[in-house]
Amino acid sequence: MNNLEKIAEEIRKSKKFSKLGIDYLISILKRNLQLDKKVNKLVQEEQYLNFRSSKHYKAFLKSIKKFLHDTYSVYQIRDVSKKDRIYHDILKSKDKNNLLQLHVDMLHCHSSTRERKNEYETIYRNIFAVCGKPKNILDVGCGINAFSLPFIGFRDFKYVCCDSVKEDLKLIDDYLNKVGPSFGFKGKSFFINIFVEDFLKKISKIKSDVCFLFKMTDMLDYGKKTHKKTEDFLRNVNSKFVVVSFPTKTVSNKKMRVPRRKWFEIMCNRLKYGYDYFEIENECFYIVNKFRKK
Ligand SMILES: C[S@@+](CC[C@H](N)C(=O)[O-])C[C@H]1O[C@@H](n2cnc3c(N)ncnc32)[C@H](O)[C@@H]1O
Repeated sequence: MNNLEKIAEEIRKSKKFSKLGIDYLISILKRNLQLDKKVNKLVQEEQYLNFRSSKHYKAFLKSIKKFLHDTYSVYQIRDVSKKDRIYHDILKSKDKNNLLQLHVDMLHCHSSTRERKNEYETIYRNIFAVCGKPKNILDVGCGINAFSLPFIGFRDFKYVCCDSVKEDLKLIDDYLNKVGPSFGFKGKSFFINIFVEDFLKKISKIKSDVCFLFKMTDMLDYGKKTHKKTEDFLRNVNSKFVVVSFPTKTVSNKKMRVPRRKWFEIMCNRLKYGYDYFEIENECFYIVNKFRKK
């Protein structure tokens, strides 16, 4: 086992990271080591047993765990089988109202969809009043947003989505196959790691009419002082419309006084992309039109 594998195994000993794959952890370690030259040198040149108790390595490990907490654990629920139980009921349900309620219950299982679980009809009405009815939707860093599709207000479209949580993607794929057609949509999911270099290459190969990037810019730009990765995403995504959302509460859960993201508006203006804007209770949305000149 090399040093990176040993560190990844050490991280997986913590229960909250035990489901993360070794390959994924190694890619995250590589990304974060690029930002920490001292520890990178230790990992390249020393034996694991020699550096594992060093101050620098311990600080690095702590920062990796914080990173994984912020990008992964916060979105997981404690009751790991709850999503499976709700999905099982979705498959069995014969009553339309009960079926829709089960979708809302499912949306409750991820902190991002939980906050907007009762507002999807409004959100989708606002988005598609601007974009028109799409044939293809791409959702990047999707979480479990797929379970909101019965509230979209139209049929006959394809939904393609990606995230890094494999168990959720498996559930979503099954859902899109088995339940999607009865609501008039089909689709698929695939694994993506937004922290690896070829991420945008992969994304730019997928043509869609509308791309959702809900609450993902903090993730894209994580640990960076600029918004370059968000900008690269906007430039490279192969979609006329990109719907970018942001939370409107601060980390301490207070409502932001000015939720609009000035940096994002300046970026769109500079790129000469037009945009529309709306807010709901806990979130604000920019509907970016890459073909409409500002
Ligand atoms: C703030 S949530 C947004 C989820 C969804 N877009 C929504 O708003 O409902 C961030 C999402 O990024 C995903 N994520 C974390 N690390 C990732 C990675 N390396 N690559 C792709 N997605 C990742 C998480 O699993 C989570 O679903």
